[in-house]
Amino acid sequence: MTEVKAGSCAVVIVAAGSGQRLGHGVPKARVPLGGDAMLVHAVHGVMKAGIAAQICVAIPADDAELSAMCQRLGAEAATQGVLFSVVEGGAQRSASVFSALAQIAQGITTVMIHDAARPLTPSGVFNRVAAALRDGAKAVIPALAVVDTIKTVVPATLPATGAGLEKVSGTPARNQLRAVQTPQGFDLQTLRQAHAHAQTLDDEAASLITDDAMLVEAIGVEVYVVQGSTHSFKVTSPMDLLLAEAMLEGPLRPRWIEG
Ligand code: CTP
Ligand code: MG
Repeated sequence: MTEVKAGSCAVVIVAAGSGQRLGHGVPKARVPLGGDAMLVHAVHGVMKAGIAAQICVAIPADDAELSAMCQRLGAEAATQGVLFSVVEGGAQRSASVFSALAQIAQGITTVMIHDAARPLTPSGVFNRVAAALRDGAKAVIPALAVVDTIKTVVPATLPATGAGLEKVSGTPARNQLRAVQTPQGFDLQTLRQAHAHAQTLDDEAASLITDDAMLVEAIGVEVYVVQGSTHSFKVTSPMDLLLAEAMLEGPLRPRWIEG
């Protein structure tokens, strides 16, 4: 395995999802945004932040187009002295991260896991996560205060008709809630331990894993929170793509995209 400078940071970009909710019929990482594929934006964002000695991208199996795109991105990364690796992702996001963790170079001590589906994450977010890792955190996530009131629900039936819907089971205090983003940063050894522990979960428990911080919480490690960014939203549905396009292409671009 290739070596990088001791104590360096790697960024894993997970791009192996199929993009069902966006509905473009191709993996989301390939969907164009302002003339470039979403993955290109994500990789450029990481390179611009200047925090990574290695970038490792997880892409779907047998995707010739994404493989070719990664070849070009790898050549670009090499000109900046950044090691670029590509792995085949898995059926679940956590499996894609697990595959990537096997390819982290010798010398790497911290790793950030980032969604390709967050193409507009500003450098400031990467820098805040990196700073907290440098300051000794074993796990760091960027997050935003929640604007909507969030309720928990359970299945229910209407008394008169028996029609099935849901009813409220609780209202967590909004001032304690945070909407979590990526990049999520970890001490590499800690994240490896957390993923090893996750391998012991049954299918149902595994299907409930939505981020890496959950796995680290499960092994009792404290997860610190830094300020995220509204620009770092995840492109999930068509409306998100519309917003990202408007930020990149519209007359307001200078206001939205960091120089
Ligand atoms: N991801 C991945 N491997 C998977 C599933 C998801 O690498 N098996 C990645 C996606 O490519 C994306 C990120 O995880 O960058 C967040 O996932 P999500 O937004 O859910 O993307 P998709 O799974 O592609 O979308 P959908 O759930 O709508 O199919
Ligand atoms: Mg998904």
